[in-house]
Amino acid sequence: MKKHLVLLAFLGVVGSVSAADIVGNAKAAENKVSMCIGCHGIPGYKASFPEVYQVPMLGGQSPKYIENALRAYQKGERRHPSMQGIAGSLSDQDIADLAAYYSQQK
Ligand code: HEC
Repeated sequence: MKKHLVLLAFLGVVGSVSAADIVGNAKAAENKVSMCIGCHGIPGYKASFPEVYQVPMLGGQSPKYIENALRAYQKGERRHPSMQGIAGSLSDQDIADLAAYYSQQK
């Protein structure tokens, strides 16, 4: 009986995952950043599409800031074609992991 309760509680948690319950895992982000470092890993790098853009450095930013920025691109509140495309492909967990990863970088 006890086991069933635990299982139900667990399913309840899984079923109700909301952004607030997701904990970023910097380690898990290590194989996700490959799609970011091309632009964000190079100090002073400028993306040349669709016009010349200064690519912001992400390392050391607060995780909340990174998360909010990525969600804003997802929702189209922030506009940049490449970032909107990339953010649109990320899950909530990806965003949390990437935010944790970059906030721990220098
Ligand atoms: C094609 C180049 C490119 C790639 C790839 C890319 N970005 Fe970006 N990113 C940019 C540019 C350019 C900006 C600034 C756009 C703007 O002015 O809104 C930006 C902005 C951001 C911002 C907002 C930063 C700030 O200071 O406001 C975040 C967060 C971000 N990117 C995260 C990521 C993550 C995470 C990835 C990988 C999943 C990624 N980006 C991949 C080019 C790129």
